[in-house]
Amino acid sequence: MQKLFINGGKKLYGKIKIDKSKNAILPLLAGAIMVEGEVVFEDVPPLSDVVNMCKILQSLGGSVVWQENNLVVDMTNLSAHDILSPLASKLRSSIFALGPLLSRAKIAKIAYPGGCEIGLRPIDIHLSAMRTLGAKIVEKNGYIYANGSAMEGADIVLDFPSVGATENAMMGAVLTRGITRIFNSAKEPEIVDLQNFLNKCGAKISGAGTNQITVEGVSKLHGCLYSTIPDRISGGSFLLTVAMCGGDVEIENFLPYHNQALLSKIKQTACFYDIKNDKIKIRSDGKLTTFGEVETAVYPGFPTDLQPQIMALASVCEGYTLIEENLFESRFLHVSELKKMGADIRCKNNVCIVHGKDKLFGAEVSSADLRGGMALVMAGLRGEGYTTVSGVEYIDRGYYQIEKILSQVGADIKRIEE
Ligand code: UD1
Repeated sequence: MQKLFINGGKKLYGKIKIDKSKNAILPLLAGAIMVEGEVVFEDVPPLSDVVNMCKILQSLGGSVVWQENNLVVDMTNLSAHDILSPLASKLRSSIFALGPLLSRAKIAKIAYPGGCEIGLRPIDIHLSAMRTLGAKIVEKNGYIYANGSAMEGADIVLDFPSVGATENAMMGAVLTRGITRIFNSAKEPEIVDLQNFLNKCGAKISGAGTNQITVEGVSKLHGCLYSTIPDRISGGSFLLTVAMCGGDVEIENFLPYHNQALLSKIKQTACFYDIKNDKIKIRSDGKLTTFGEVETAVYPGFPTDLQPQIMALASVCEGYTLIEENLFESRFLHVSELKKMGADIRCKNNVCIVHGKDKLFGAEVSSADLRGGMALVMAGLRGEGYTTVSGVEYIDRGYYQIEKILSQVGADIKRIEE
């Protein structure tokens, strides 16, 4: 079993370069299922979720080849339409294949998806969108059986602006005859990226980034070369890490307009940052004041994917901080672990009150989900003494070689086998 071993208390100095976005590349890889021809994705981090998504594409008859850092995908010879449980259970994003398979092959059989256990994470909105497009769907024995032979463009109204359901609805409509309008769509930057990619392949999509997306069905998609957006959650995580540990770090590939909600909180904590184009330089002496409160919301609100990390920060911000989680009902798995490190946190339902302390201490802790795991790493880096973080496989889903990135800016962190 692998663990991260941290000797805390070091300030961080230097540069960090942010990778391409995990949450952007996963739906794009699914989108490639619809393409006849070669798609080259530039500079893709080989995260475990990405590798598992590639296995799904290969299981469908596709060719996926790494050429240095580029990922070359060719789904011309799509020969299967089913994703079995062992693969689907590895990642939630396996459900992204539903829309593309229905769009292109008009048939799909997909096992219920897995993913981080941060809440119930149903897929009813995805299925409802496909049904609105005319797909016949039967749920049986842990599988979704979908037939799209009668699919046609339609008006889809999402019950909630789910990111994944918006992406699936867009993809379901791309090779489906007629005009589809998606109302109450999610507005996340990853959705704009999906629109840009699919349009580069010949799709006709407009409106991504607003709450109404229009897709005009086309008959075929062709290959292209594409470079996804930088990972705003990774960028935000490292920004918070430097704020928490203290130091002076330049973060490259950080798009400030994707992280406005975070920046407005950081501004209130008494650290300084300076933005030039896609670079942010953050300086902190580690003596921070509370930003008062934060509530997670759909974009452009504060991202739920940064809630655990900002809670770690709040645990060393002088004063009281109120944290409200509004997206996922079980997203406080990190709280008990942060408390082992000396954090003072009390939670009821979806709200936690954090009483900031100057000091945290090293402890043996265990991550139970990706972003919660990052919060524990942050606390370990700030804490006095030694911390071991188990459950590294969760962290590896979203941060490629985290120990390497952090060591490069002076953190004392290594991966150990036990
Ligand atoms: C995406 C992100 C994830 C992020 C989340 C919210 C990817 C690969 N993952 O996940 O990192 O935390 O957005 O920003 O992009 N819901 C339903 N029924 C559905 C679908 C969703 O009830 O059919 C609920 C979910 O349980 C959750 C809320 O809607 O409470 C938001 O989920 P959603 O936006 O769909 O998140 P994901 O697309 O799974």
